[in-house]
Amino acid sequence: MRIDIITIFPEMFAGPFSESIIKRAVLKNKAEIQLHDLRNYSTDKHRKVDDYAFGGEAGMVMMIEPIDRCISILKEQRNYDEIIYLSPDGTMLTQHLCNKLSLLNNIVLLCGHYKGIDERIRENLITLEISIGDYVLSGGELAAAVLTDSIVRLIPGVLGDETSALSDSFQDGLVSPPVYTRPRNYKGWNVPEILLSGDQKAIDRWKMDQAEQRTQTKRPDLLKDQELHSDNK
Ligand code: ADE
Repeated sequence: MRIDIITIFPEMFAGPFSESIIKRAVLKNKAEIQLHDLRNYSTDKHRKVDDYAFGGEAGMVMMIEPIDRCISILKEQRNYDEIIYLSPDGTMLTQHLCNKLSLLNNIVLLCGHYKGIDERIRENLITLEISIGDYVLSGGELAAAVLTDSIVRLIPGVLGDETSALSDSFQDGLVSPPVYTRPRNYKGWNVPEILLSGDQKAIDRWKMDQAEQRTQTKRPDLLKDQELHSDNK
C-alpha cells in the first residue's frame, strides 16, 4: 500500500513513523509512505498556504491552489483509491473502516489547519472525510498518523503473528479479554486459576465470557451497535 500525506508539518510524522509497526511495514516493503510539504506547492515567494476567509469569518483558511497543485501532481503518477481529508466533521473512524481501507492500494491523506480548507477542495477533490473522534486537534497531522497506524498494521504480513490483528479488540465487535504474564502471584495479586489449568477449551470459553462481560460493562454501546446492524439485515 502507498500512502501520500500532504501536510505543512512533515516533521510531526518523524517520531510515529520511525518506530514499531509502521517502521517494520516500511522496511518489509508492505507500506510506502511519502510526505509532501504543502509549502513546496505554493506559488507565493513566502511559501504562503493560507489566506483570510471570505465573509468576515475569523481565522485563516488553507488555500485551494497549493492543495490542488499537489494533488494534481500526485494523480499524474498513479491512480488513487481515496483522497482523504482528516477533519473533526468527517465520518468517524472505526475498526470496520480501518479494515476496508487496509485493502486499498493508493491513498492520499490531506492534513488541514487553521479554520479548515477552502470548501471547493472538499467538493471537488476529496473522496472521503475521516474524523478520529469528537474533539478538535490543532491540525490533521496527529489524526493522519493515527489513521496510518491503524491501517498499516492490518496489511497482511505486517504483524508477526498473523492472527494477532484478528484477535484485537473490536475485530469481532467486542473488547479484548484481560491478559496476564509472569509472575503468577505479585504482591498477592493472582492470575486467574483457569489460565494456568492447561484446559484450552475451558480457557477459550473463559476468554469469550470475559470479552462479553467487559463489553457489557465498559462499552455497552458496541452491543447496541450490533443489535442495530442485525436489525438492518
Ligand atoms: N483535525 C482536527 N481535529 C480532528 C479530528 N478529531 N479528527 C480528524 N482530523 C482532525
